[in-house]
Amino acid sequence: MAQFELRCIECGKSHDMARPAYACSKCGNLLEVRLDFGVAGDKLGKSDWKKRPISVWKYKELIPVDPKAKVYSLNEGGTPLLKCSRLGERLGMKNLRIKFDGVNPTGSFKDRGMTVGITKAKELGMKTVTCASTGNTSASLAAYAGLAGLRCVVLIPEGKVALGKLAQAMMHGALVISVKGNFDQALDMVMKSSEKLGMYVLNSVNPFRIEGQKTASYEICDQMEGRCPEYLYIPVGNGGNSAAYWKGFAEYESLGVVPGHPVIRGIQAEGAAPVAHMFESGSKELVPVKKPDTVATAIRIGNPANWKKTVRAIKESGGYASVVIDEEILEAQRSLAKFEGIFAEPAGAAALAGLVKDIELGKIDKSADVVCVSTGHGLKDPDVAIAQSIQPKVIEASMKALEGLLEGE
Ligand code: F0G
Repeated sequence: MAQFELRCIECGKSHDMARPAYACSKCGNLLEVRLDFGVAGDKLGKSDWKKRPISVWKYKELIPVDPKAKVYSLNEGGTPLLKCSRLGERLGMKNLRIKFDGVNPTGSFKDRGMTVGITKAKELGMKTVTCASTGNTSASLAAYAGLAGLRCVVLIPEGKVALGKLAQAMMHGALVISVKGNFDQALDMVMKSSEKLGMYVLNSVNPFRIEGQKTASYEICDQMEGRCPEYLYIPVGNGGNSAAYWKGFAEYESLGVVPGHPVIRGIQAEGAAPVAHMFESGSKELVPVKKPDTVATAIRIGNPANWKKTVRAIKESGGYASVVIDEEILEAQRSLAKFEGIFAEPAGAAALAGLVKDIELGKIDKSADVVCVSTGHGLKDPDVAIAQSIQPKVIEASMKALEGLLEGE
């Protein structure tokens, strides 16, 4: 049997990996890469993978690209798992860690998926890559497309993309198209136009992107020396990353590398929380939010394309999805910055906000081993940071003025 198989998540139909495909040709559901654990285990057994430093490509035996393919990499992954002592003390949590994926090359976890997705795009002979984006995907795609010499077309919701992300997409040379609508509408346009226009879609509906993103979970287990956390808090927007994290943990467990898996708690912003509403109401179908809104623009998504994948992942882990309000996200963002030196963008603080809320509601044991995923860097969104901070004090260029100010503080 082959090590990898591209299969429909619903009906199980097998698909050709050598052609661009995102949805099942029979039932229209999303596709995922399945790993044969016997074959993969044998391969790992014959390699020196355990000795390699953590990074996406440490795990190349578990990533479905041609082993002979040229890899397009900016050294993504290998991000720190930071023990949060000051914040942990304030919250009464003994074992709190942050996986800071905001320190990837373009400042978000998207790079893990893009190095694999762009390597695959070249393998498939694609000339143009595309995505719809709330910002980070477009920044990452633009960078990797530049590296690989591919044309890059990105569609973004007008006026709702943080400044840093927009600057990145423009600077890396993408054709940036601002759509008078929201992310969900832009993604719909991308999906409908890609085949006709010969563009390879690198949104998280692309199964190969998920294969890169799952490496964050392998890294966490390696950083915890062969254990996994009891709980993983993670923001949910389009639902790809939470599904990817679960895939990584579940694979590591099935391969016998770690003896268990964490419970996944997905966190959404109140104004864009269709997945959390499913868990609250017990509904089996997603009811899209027509006009999603939140200060965490990265997760301002009302109709997540990966909702089936993420709901399944969260349920399999024994977890649930829940909601935080914008003020809780901003409070968590300030706490990370002030007490731990971690500058996260608002979406990158949502997981911590979810944990804080669960602590308040008594939904988590304070001695539990918890990892919160911080997905994007704070420099991405300077406007939100500046708006909630104490503004600089302006003084004359004299010692007297400085002393006067400091004495008065
Ligand atoms: N955090 C950040 C910083 C993000 O940029 C995103 C998604 C998420 C969390 C949510 O991840 O969609 O896989 O559930 N950003 C996408 C984008 C939608 O276009 O940059 P998800």
